[in-house]
Amino acid sequence: VRVEFLDYEAIDDYGWSLDDDDLFRKASHADLDPAAHGRLLVHPDESLLEAAERSGFGWPFSCRGGACANCAVFLVEGELSQPADHIMPEELAERGFRLSCNGYPVSDELKVVFNVKQLAELDDLIL
Ligand code: FES
Repeated sequence: VRVEFLDYEAIDDYGWSLDDDDLFRKASHADLDPAAHGRLLVHPDESLLEAAERSGFGWPFSCRGGACANCAVFLVEGELSQPADHIMPEELAERGFRLSCNGYPVSDELKVVFNVKQLAELDDLIL
């Protein structure tokens, strides 16, 4: 599964928004650090967080068990599974927020924004 990723910090720095339709196109033109915008592969049975780590990236996490939201990502394209026992509230899940520590791709391609834990909406969830 191919993943294109973008660091929320770049969105913040450049004054972009998660809702921008051309977010990843803007990112491609911004000459960002390879750790802030790029691509990685998720192997079968690998969570998104594990794939990022195997690829040498230090994405945020803490509990690794679906209980803290430090590892939250925002789905721009594609789908990431989420087990039942997680702390992501329904309304955030519906908007496309997922946990990378126990999120497994269920689409062939993904576009995700990682490091979204600093968003106000997620603030209450961070333990
Ligand atoms: Fe805590 Fe993913 S690291 S929910």
